[in-house]
Amino acid sequence: MKFTIAFSVAVLASAVTAVTTTTTKSTTTTTAAATCTPRPVYAQCGGVNYSVAGCTKVDGKYQCANGGTCTYINDYYYQCYPAAG
Ligand SMILES: *[C@@H]1O[C@H](CO)[C@@H](O)[C@H](O)[C@H]1NC(C)=O
Repeated sequence: MKFTIAFSVAVLASAVTAVTTTTTKSTTTTTAAATCTPRPVYAQCGGVNYSVAGCTKVDGKYQCANGGTCTYINDYYYQCYPAAG
């Protein structure tokens, strides 16, 4: 039957289109590269006018490496301390 064949081809075609659309969508989500290197232990990690390229200050502090804690020393100096243990 000619009609049945034409119909199933149309269904197939739309199914292929749907698959193609979803695949393209998932590939477009690659941006916001985190180029921040966490501060090493005992390095400065915050303070007035202190900035680290590529990193974002959170509560005036930068992230410390190896789970270290950025600790307030004074307004001009925050230092990374190793994680307890
Ligand atoms: C911080 O930066 C401001 C503006 O550049 C400057 O006026 C000020 O003296 C700086 N403070 C310190 C502690 O370096």
